[in-house]
Amino acid sequence: MVAVKPLTVRACAKLNLGLEVLGRREDGYHELRTIFQTIDLSDVIRIGPAPSGIELASDDPGLPLGEANLAYRAADQLRRRAGVRAGARIEIRKRIPVAGGLGGGSSDAAAVLLALDRLWGLGLGRSGLWPLARRVGADVPYFLLGGTALGLARGDEVYPLAEQVRGHVVLVDPGRPVSTAAVFARVAERLTPRENSSTISRFVSSDLRGAVRFGILANELEQAALVEAPDLVGHARRIRAMLARGGAVLARMSGSGSTFFGLFEGRAEAAEAKQALEGAGYRAWLTRTLSLRQYRDRWARSLRGVRTGASGATR
Ligand code: C5P
Repeated sequence: MVAVKPLTVRACAKLNLGLEVLGRREDGYHELRTIFQTIDLSDVIRIGPAPSGIELASDDPGLPLGEANLAYRAADQLRRRAGVRAGARIEIRKRIPVAGGLGGGSSDAAAVLLALDRLWGLGLGRSGLWPLARRVGADVPYFLLGGTALGLARGDEVYPLAEQVRGHVVLVDPGRPVSTAAVFARVAERLTPRENSSTISRFVSSDLRGAVRFGILANELEQAALVEAPDLVGHARRIRAMLARGGAVLARMSGSGSTFFGLFEGRAEAAEAKQALEGAGYRAWLTRTLSLRQYRDRWARSLRGVRTGASGATR
């Protein structure tokens, strides 16, 4: 076997700038329209050879390390599909809040697919990995793309938007993880099926600018998350008000929660808002959006010069 050197990559978090739930699908999932946005907050993943099978380790003792972990599932399925005999050891340094609506698990899975495709010399690329990514999780395909993108169907049909959103982002963790499946189950109870969405289409096609443009976006999972976790209601109101007062052009919950975010045009006002939220006792981060180009460049840099195991040797 070719000695493959371990590779370190970063798996970025995402926000849902807006999210509409259009109805329940026959496969039990929900039909969505969402605007995804990658941000510069990442888990750090080291991937190297292992004698056989997939070994997963993490600095977060709460993280499941077997089938329940999307990164494990992604690696295991890729290995089986491609008929690879070599194993892989995956170490995840968790920086993205778990069960926070920031897509950390899905991003880890996509990162593992991109890295193993290279380390094992499979040459599948993004398009070859796409079907497998969809099977691993609804948000995984988006992380093969990144940037500002429209997500349709289960969120797994993704289209890059011509106009990439750029801004500074304050994330606020109210310290109360919420299960995605539980939030979607609450949505089902309250859903009014609709054929056409309004705000997402307007956002995609509109020539509105700044706060006016972002103001039309809503997250239709937020209500369901607050029914699932009523102890969050007061925090939600307070956090959103503080972000808005600080000058955010958009302040919402991300995905199924429970992380909230504020999008700011200026870094200084974002930094001030972060400080105010920390002063109020919240865990907060200051970061920025990553455009499609920035996301692509980052991946190209991470994978450049990686010595791959010749497929004949690893399979
Ligand atoms: O695909 P993923 O594992 O990320 O989804 C987690 C859960 O969220 C699913 O099991 C499903 O209950 C719910 N979900 C949904 N509709 C979507 C995406 C997720 O109902 N479009």
